[in-house]
This record gives sequence, C-alpha cells and structure tokens, in this order.
Amino acid sequence: MKFRNVLGIDFGGSGIKGAPVDTKEGVLLAERYRIPTPNPANPENVIQVIKKIANSFKWDGPIGIAFPAVVQNGIVKTASNIDQSWIGMNAAKMVRQATGLPALVVNDADAAGMAEMKFGAGKGMNGLVLLVTVGTGIGTVLFSQGKLVPNSELGHIYLPSGREAEEFASDATRKKENLEWNEWGQRFNVYLKEMERLFWPELIIIGGGVSKKKQLFINELDLHTKLTIASAKNEAGIIGAALAARANRKSLKPY
Ligand code: BGC
Repeated sequence: MKFRNVLGIDFGGSGIKGAPVDTKEGVLLAERYRIPTPNPANPENVIQVIKKIANSFKWDGPIGIAFPAVVQNGIVKTASNIDQSWIGMNAAKMVRQATGLPALVVNDADAAGMAEMKFGAGKGMNGLVLLVTVGTGIGTVLFSQGKLVPNSELGHIYLPSGREAEEFASDATRKKENLEWNEWGQRFNVYLKEMERLFWPELIIIGGGVSKKKQLFINELDLHTKLTIASAKNEAGIIGAALAARANRKSLKPY
C-alpha cells in the first residue's frame, strides 16, 4: 500500500472534516468534506461519519484521525468534549473494523503541531514551540528540538482566578457567553500569559477555528513571546492526522 497520500480526518466539536492529503507536500488533494458532529458524539455515530467521509472519497488507503482527547496507542483516555463512552475505546481498531483500512488515531493538537512543524509556522524551529489550538476546547502541543511531547493537556490548567482555562477562554465559551471578540481576546491573553510564565516558549502558534479570525483579537494579546498563526489555519488537524499515520506506517495494519 502506498503511503504518500493519506486520508486525514479531524474530529472537532462542531464538525468532522476530512480530505486526502499529500504527506510529502503537506497539502489537501481535494476540497475537504465536512459533516456536522453527531449528537451524541458517541463511538457508534462518529465511526459512521468517518466511514461516510472515507466513502465520499472512495478511499482505499490509510487513514489518520485527529481526536479531541488524549489518545495512547489508539485508545481514547479522556472525553472533555466528546461522549464519555469513548473512554477506554480503541478508536483506531474501530475505524479499521468499520472501513477495512489501516488507521491511526492521534490527539488533535498533536496532529496540528506536526503539520505546523513540518510545513508551516514552526518549520525549522529548534527551541521550545507551543501550539495552542482553540475551538470547542483548548488543545496544546509542545515541541523541543523539533520533538513532540505527546498528549499535553494544558488547556485544562487552572488560572489564578480559579477558572479552568478551557472553560474560561475556549471559542465555545466565547459563543456561549456572547463575548465580543475583544473581550474574548483579553481572556485568551490571560491564558497565554500564564503559558508564557510557566514554559517560556520561543514561539507560540495559534491554531483551530479562531486562527481564521486573527484580526478580531490579535490587538488584545500582549505577550513577550513571538506569536504567529498556524499556516494551515483550521486545516492543520487534517494534514497532521495524515502525517501521523504516515509516520507510523510500519505499525499500521488493515483490520
Ligand atoms: C481536550 C484535548 C484536545 C482539546 C482540543 C480538550 O478539551 O482535552 O485533548 O486537544 O480539547 O480539541
């Protein structure tokens, strides 16, 4: 099986999006296909959506899936924004069983980080890079010397105010609390300042849904760290999921 082209899928809080990715170039080979995230976002429903996306591209190659949760060896370990019944499930195996195709599942922020370090905003960076992806949740990934530290969950830290960062400054909270973009930007600044104080990164990359709205909040950010927006914007998850599958191609077997 050829591994250059991999179907990348990004399981997000509001949509599940997929497209074939050329992993050598880091580009989508077709327009992405998006299906609203089913409610409940339980294993059965989500696997059906993944199958539908694969079928829509008549896909018969490897699949990489970015999950909004901690994933270790294909097994989902947390569920802050997805159905609790995911916990303990071997998501990679379920996708393999449903599609008959080799599949790898990886945390969504880790996936986005892989894409940005290889092709985008973090390319060539050796120092500490922190990517923060903001959508329904807040996901994070750290790279040191270009090496990924997997499954960091720094969106769940508690801020000095006592509020959990994700609950205080996610895009879902902006919508729920009807915050103006500048108000939300000020909250995000509190969070990033805390990250800066604790980790002293050389570069912070902002990804996820909010990365498309940079001009609406960027003026509220007052950091000493260099800051940039993910080059692949909201598509970093799709590209990174495909890259992760390719990187692990030796261990991927069809069901
Ligand atoms: C999850 C992370 C995920 C992030 C972004 C958080 O709630 O705990 O694993 O990366 O949301 O989706």
